[in-house]
Amino acid sequence: TDLKKIRNFSIIAHIDHGKSTLADRLIQQTGGLTQREMREQVLDNMDIEKERGITIKSQTVRLNWQAADGVTYELNLMDTPGHVDFAYEVSRSLAACEGALLVVDAAQGVEAQTLANVYQSIEHDHEIVPVINKIDLPAAEPDRVKLEIEEVIGLDSADAVEASAKTGIGIEDILQAIVDKIPAPTGDRDKPLKAMLVDSWYDPYLGVVILVRVQDGVIKKGQQIKFMNAGSEHLIDRVGCFTPKRVELPELGPGEIGFITAQIKEVAQTAVGDTITTVKNPTEKALPGFKEVQPVVFCGLFPVDAADFEKLRESLYKLRLNDASFSFEMETSAALGFGFRCGFLGLLHLEIIQERLTREYDLDLITTAPSVVYRMDLSHTKNEDAMVLELHNPADMPDVNRINFIEEPWIKATIYTPDEYLGGILKLCQDRRGIQKELTYVGGRAQVVYELPLNEVVFDFYDRLKSISKGYASFDYEQIGYREGDLVKMSILVNEEAVDALSMIVHRGTAEERGRGMCERLKELIPRHLFKIPIQAAIGGKIIARETISAMRKDVTAKCYGGDATRKRKLLEKQKKGKAKMREYGNVSIPQEAFIAALKMG
Ligand code: GTP
Repeated sequence: TDLKKIRNFSIIAHIDHGKSTLADRLIQQTGGLTQREMREQVLDNMDIEKERGITIKSQTVRLNWQAADGVTYELNLMDTPGHVDFAYEVSRSLAACEGALLVVDAAQGVEAQTLANVYQSIEHDHEIVPVINKIDLPAAEPDRVKLEIEEVIGLDSADAVEASAKTGIGIEDILQAIVDKIPAPTGDRDKPLKAMLVDSWYDPYLGVVILVRVQDGVIKKGQQIKFMNAGSEHLIDRVGCFTPKRVELPELGPGEIGFITAQIKEVAQTAVGDTITTVKNPTEKALPGFKEVQPVVFCGLFPVDAADFEKLRESLYKLRLNDASFSFEMETSAALGFGFRCGFLGLLHLEIIQERLTREYDLDLITTAPSVVYRMDLSHTKNEDAMVLELHNPADMPDVNRINFIEEPWIKATIYTPDEYLGGILKLCQDRRGIQKELTYVGGRAQVVYELPLNEVVFDFYDRLKSISKGYASFDYEQIGYREGDLVKMSILVNEEAVDALSMIVHRGTAEERGRGMCERLKELIPRHLFKIPIQAAIGGKIIARETISAMRKDVTAKCYGGDATRKRKLLEKQKKGKAKMREYGNVSIPQEAFIAALKMG
């Protein structure tokens, strides 16, 4: 295709502002699908994505649309993930485009996530076309939102398109604005092939499908290609695009976005951001910005039923086929038996994998306390040279006397909130050892920037923020490196026995409060037994908090029975099933839910 007729763009939007609905509408308007094929929200094709309304894996769609000048343009719409955990994938998708639609809800206005993505988009020199969506809503205030876009983001919104993805108002205007405002890509067909690996996913029929953006040269079937960072070589067997139906094409030229397949078995072999070139006539320089993504949050996953261990292993392998950003290795725990230590990009990523294992693979799991990666400096010990240990699991913490100092990862968080919730949010950040960096007001809203230890954020910071602000505050973060911290390992003892799954690294200053909270919650979560159960939090040998579950009186159990035989049998079956979801610690049965619930700070 002639470069001048190509437009590559993404959609920037806060969650729920209507990105998927708009994408569907653009597909519908340009005739990529027949009415019958037009399922609801075609771009978000995973169940969990649909349910949570979050786009996880990106997909791109080619729209052919005839503009006012009578020319048919090739518009490539790049769908990007919408959560902070997937920031690097977003950055590569943006690098593949020349512009973006900025979709802002006409009733909600600009949110922090939107801001973060807009700035990223501006950094990629994108032309940004503001779209005020949901103007059909009675609460819509397009003029106020336009003003906000100018004030907060500094974008000229005089030409912002007012639209409703739901009713179809303004959709043609959006398409025309894409053609008029977003620049065509540049590239040279006669140069050696240089293409970016934008995304990849596993397809049961095709193997790994790779989304590419061609910079220079041409990519076609039969070519022997090379991934420059990975160093691997592959033979291309398919080239095409999605409309969103899969369409095979003879080639992809400069400026174009589409897919290739090359009989690759695992997505782990395809790193997002890698440069693709040909073996015969390679380009000299790889594209800039390649980064290997590293998991930042780790936790243990153990099957409730030890017999499910192999099934868990297989399920993890299957999930990893499609998600190279999570890692796992076998782990043994004194109390939980055999399981896996898994690494994730963030807490949402963790929850997604955990949910898929439970739902799609029908596994009952115990998740241990999520932990970030700590750096333990073990130098100044007698037998070792300077040595830094990266700790992924509190259970592996070396003896305190061997540790010179501990460092923990920090983040810079940007929170955007209506004024009225600011007090509560500042307190939350303060309680989590935050250091306030900025506080600015725009209209009735405040933007606060805090530096926070990641470990204070991974548990329930986001949930707390949402509940304090009734869902109005938004949150975005980036990692800013490691800092020394006064950190200790806190163990939880149930009936005098340490529950390794609940041990965690905490800051000394907040250890007591955290320990007390854990003990209190466990007291509620663990059912009474026939004997008294002490629950304790300890640092080293020192008990810092304690609760006691009193013994159950015998006649309480008797009351549960009675009634006819079938009811009794059902009850017994139910109990048996319930039993399977319990874990034994020093003769105490701990329900599965307790492991997660106990970790949520009050
Ligand atoms: P994520 O995928 O989570 O990023 O959300 P999204 O931005 O894709 O939002 P989505 O398209 O799922 O829309 C969120 C909600 O807003 C849905 O209930 C839509 O039906 C609704 N919605 C989208 N566009 C409009 C619109 O123009 N008017 C009205 N009234 N509702 C809309």
